[in-house]
Amino acid sequence: MIIKVAKNAGFCFGVERAVNGVIAWAKANKDKSVKVYGMLIHNSYVIEKLKELNVKVIENINEIEKGDIVFIRSHGVSMDEFSEIEKRASKVYDFTCPYVKKIHEIVRENSENGLDVIVVGDINHPEVKGIIGHVEKGRKCIVIDSLEKAKDAISQLGRNAVVVCQTTFDNAKWHEIKEYIENNTDYNVFDTVCKATITRQEEAKTLARDVDVMLVIGDKKSSNTNKLYQAIKDIKPTFFIERPQDLEGIDFTMVKKIGITAGASTSQEQINEIVEILEKRFNQIDNQDFAKLIDKGFAEI
Ligand code: F3S
Repeated sequence: MIIKVAKNAGFCFGVERAVNGVIAWAKANKDKSVKVYGMLIHNSYVIEKLKELNVKVIENINEIEKGDIVFIRSHGVSMDEFSEIEKRASKVYDFTCPYVKKIHEIVRENSENGLDVIVVGDINHPEVKGIIGHVEKGRKCIVIDSLEKAKDAISQLGRNAVVVCQTTFDNAKWHEIKEYIENNTDYNVFDTVCKATITRQEEAKTLARDVDVMLVIGDKKSSNTNKLYQAIKDIKPTFFIERPQDLEGIDFTMVKKIGITAGASTSQEQINEIVEILEKRFNQIDNQDFAKLIDKGFAEI
């Protein structure tokens, strides 16, 4: 049996930075009240680990009390939320992903210079809500997620506007909208889709073509892990693995090669656990990067 693990399986740079930052702080400051504003990561496994370290995930700013240390997750927050958190907490650590921060800057600078804003993304996603909260007051901001809505937005806005995209938006859909806007307006269009998502999906598709079955490791509540699953499920039989027990129902009898990938919210420790079980069961692994995966894991948690 050959087991191949995708190079870009697991935490993206922004999530790894935020999760490791919170864990490192919580371990070093066990006597302090540590809170994360918003679900740090859609991964119940990691959230359980955080609870063990006394880290509380809060959804409401009113839950911040005097003396709290508050962490802002990779999705970022609006300017108003940031000032409110700063007012209430004794210390704020901002782990907004730098790629999301870049979008905040683009939106802020352009709207301050008089441009209206189009955000291509999901209006209910926390990252998009945060981006809207960086638009200069008085400027229009329209959120769209389809070509039809792009046409409507153009008819509502003036000659000049700035266009950005949610970092994890569907890349093919974004390109369709982007091309239409570029061909029909003089808007300033910024390609802000995160390349980590594109690379992960493309790599998973290539891997799926080379193996007999694919395993996608991650939490079923994680939207990016679901998208990854959707991207490969029509290429090869694909199984969603949340925990080791999920391997039990899979028939590997006719399988010679297993491919493994994982969403941006899946920790290396979870990947390592599944790979080790398969390795023991089939006694072989073909992945030069596996040693690195083990090294990078959350062995200390
Ligand atoms: Fe940042 Fe891209 Fe991850 S925007 S949080 S590195 S998916």
